[in-house]
Amino acid sequence: MELIKDVYTIQKINVLDICEQFGTPLYVYDGERIVTQLNTLKSAFQGVDLKIKYAAKALTNLSVLRLLKKHGSGIDVVSIQEVQLAIHAGFSCAEIMFTPNGVSFDEIVEAVDAGVSINIDNLPTLQKFGARYGKTKACSLRLNPGIMAGGNYKISTGHNQSKFGISIQQLPQIIDIVKQFNISINGLHIHTGSEVSDLAIFLKVADVLFSTASQFPALTFLDFGGGFKVSYKKDDAVTDISALGSALTKAFTQFCEKYGRPIQLVIEPGKFLVSEAGVLLAKANVVKETPELTFVHINSGLNHLLRPMMYDAYHEIINVTNPNGMQKLYNVVGYICETDTVGSDRKLNEVREGDILAIQNAGAYGFSMASNYNSRLRPAEVLVINGEAKLIRKQENLDDLLKNQIEIVL
Ligand code: LLP
Repeated sequence: MELIKDVYTIQKINVLDICEQFGTPLYVYDGERIVTQLNTLKSAFQGVDLKIKYAAKALTNLSVLRLLKKHGSGIDVVSIQEVQLAIHAGFSCAEIMFTPNGVSFDEIVEAVDAGVSINIDNLPTLQKFGARYGKTKACSLRLNPGIMAGGNYKISTGHNQSKFGISIQQLPQIIDIVKQFNISINGLHIHTGSEVSDLAIFLKVADVLFSTASQFPALTFLDFGGGFKVSYKKDDAVTDISALGSALTKAFTQFCEKYGRPIQLVIEPGKFLVSEAGVLLAKANVVKETPELTFVHINSGLNHLLRPMMYDAYHEIINVTNPNGMQKLYNVVGYICETDTVGSDRKLNEVREGDILAIQNAGAYGFSMASNYNSRLRPAEVLVINGEAKLIRKQENLDDLLKNQIEIVL
């Protein structure tokens, strides 16, 4: 969102016009921004065979998937349903990497049957994979390097107590299983967590991948995961993508020389591609003064944006309707019947009933984590593309809440 003469715009369209047309609450994504982010990655990682695999879990709307595909991205998926969505969006099986965590073996078989690449994250599954497919199907391995990284504990996935990946300390067991079934390991993968700003972490991960790679002669790629930190707050530390790109490509090129042939460098960004492109627009239902605080209740809440309550995440809030109003302190909260603070102690331009608030940086893990809690409807989604605001998902309605319920005679 850009501020031009006190008017908030996305690709020159006034966001208030978008709200007028589609109503609120509303998720709006700036397609141009998504493509810019993708291009930033491409130019930072030059000189190697780079494959970007968008972590679909961040935002799975088909139009967003297709936009990314159109601009050359592959896709990283974590459930059979995401596999199906990726196929539906038009990704070829070769572009789809399935990295599930703790799913049943049936789901793995279904994905193998669909023809997508499988990234295995535990020894029992590797054993079953070997027993069923032997050397007829290759797979890659998700490793847990024992490195603590990530914006908070809940989104840190590479440490010793995390449920993700096969511990690097279990390398001898991995090798035993691989030998026993003659499994062809075509890739190694590490994702240490989300919101990793420290480049040293990525370089540590690279060292683990490089040293482990020597045990696997048939690799076609190394996958460094996602986790690039974007700025949620002014002065937030972010991942310096250009510095990361040059450091990692340099180290990777040296690795390929030692390994004996060039292979692919894969990254799996979610937030970096879609977070800043998205905004949740909501209306002030009630402005309520208490002896201690002033609350703004919006027509949304943790049902649409769980991140503040789930991770204490900070999302910048802007009063779009009253950009010159006197600044006051507010607690912006939802309409859900439990505490659902979206932002506390926020200095906002005076908020009046009916004003539209923009909750920024909500493209990633916003809609994709939304629910029907309190029997609320999930909002519509709009993609601004080529200077036009296009509806890419309708708001739900009562039928959506009822459609799977079976009414029995009581
Ligand atoms: N690759 C794998 C294997 C992952 O598990 C994830 C995220 C990513 C890539 C993408 O990470 P990103 O680039 O988006 O940081 N709901 C949380 C984030 C959970 C991330 C889960 N895995 C949040 O809203 O902060």
